[in-house]
Amino acid sequence: MKFQGTHDYVATDDLRLAVNAAATLQRPLLIKGEPGTGKTMLAEEVAKSMGMPLLQWHIKSTTKAQQGLYEYDAVSRLRDSQLAGVDGAEKVREIRNYIVPGVLWRAFTADEPVVLLIDEIDKADIEFPNDLLREIDRMEFYVYETRELIQAKHRPLVFITSNNEKELPDAFLRRCFFHYIQFPDALTMQRIVETHFPGLKKQLLSAALKHFYDVRNLPGLKKKPSTSELLDWLKLLVAEDIAPEALHSQDQSVVIPPLLGALLKTEQDMALFEKLVSMQRQRR
Ligand SMILES: Nc1ncnc2c1ncn2[C@@H]1O[C@H](COP(=O)(O)OP(=O)(O)OP(=O)(O)O)[C@@H](O)[C@H]1O
Ligand SMILES: [Mg+2]
Repeated sequence: MKFQGTHDYVATDDLRLAVNAAATLQRPLLIKGEPGTGKTMLAEEVAKSMGMPLLQWHIKSTTKAQQGLYEYDAVSRLRDSQLAGVDGAEKVREIRNYIVPGVLWRAFTADEPVVLLIDEIDKADIEFPNDLLREIDRMEFYVYETRELIQAKHRPLVFITSNNEKELPDAFLRRCFFHYIQFPDALTMQRIVETHFPGLKKQLLSAALKHFYDVRNLPGLKKKPSTSELLDWLKLLVAEDIAPEALHSQDQSVVIPPLLGALLKTEQDMALFEKLVSMQRQRR
């Protein structure tokens, strides 16, 4: 079955091609792109559209590769051994009772193929991707405590996202299919907005989009607003019932749009934008 995009998620042709290529190669799809360009949502939507369960692993700076495989819960075992009577001793003796499966284990042993999302892999330390090479390649790992080999019943469809905070090792990259989600052009963005706000007035949409791309194209901006911020802003414009005219002045010159805090997130960027607007006004 091929991924075609969904009712809620606009997938460009190249993104669809990348998802299907990774599925054909049976390699993880490594997705990069600006924050808010739909990297996490892609895995959720692929799972939904293919009717596959989704297992998510959100990576933090403290996450270790081993946690995705399994953890040995020594604390519970010690506590049980202190509290256990004759009946409980049986449980304590069996180390298997204190092995807690991680996300990869659950993905490997699921009864049907699953979508596995390893979200924001660049948050972990530099060794993390290297520590998962074999598991991702061979789809198996060894549990030393129980001398058991866990092998994938079905190869999961793996999505790995990165915000580029750290470089990924070459050996890891070799094993992935890579796709960079380009920032949506105005037409694609219009389609994305329409999935979120089906009945939005055309005038408001085009005025807001024009503003949005003007703001994004400001040279020197520290943090460019992204898709999710545009959607937040539109939600506010709709909630506050702001007329499209409020986004322009009478003479069609640029104005500072209302609720700009949804788009610009630093005082430097706000100041830069205000300076530009006032310069444009003076020029007229
Ligand atoms: N192609 C798209 N179609 C529909 N909605 C989208 C699309 N891209 C982004 N969005 C909207 O933007 C929001 C943010 O998307 P998501 O959380 O997947 O971004 P991300 O790339 O994972 O960001 P981050 O890098 O910050 O984690 C989504 O909840 C969705 O509402
Ligand atoms: Mg994300």
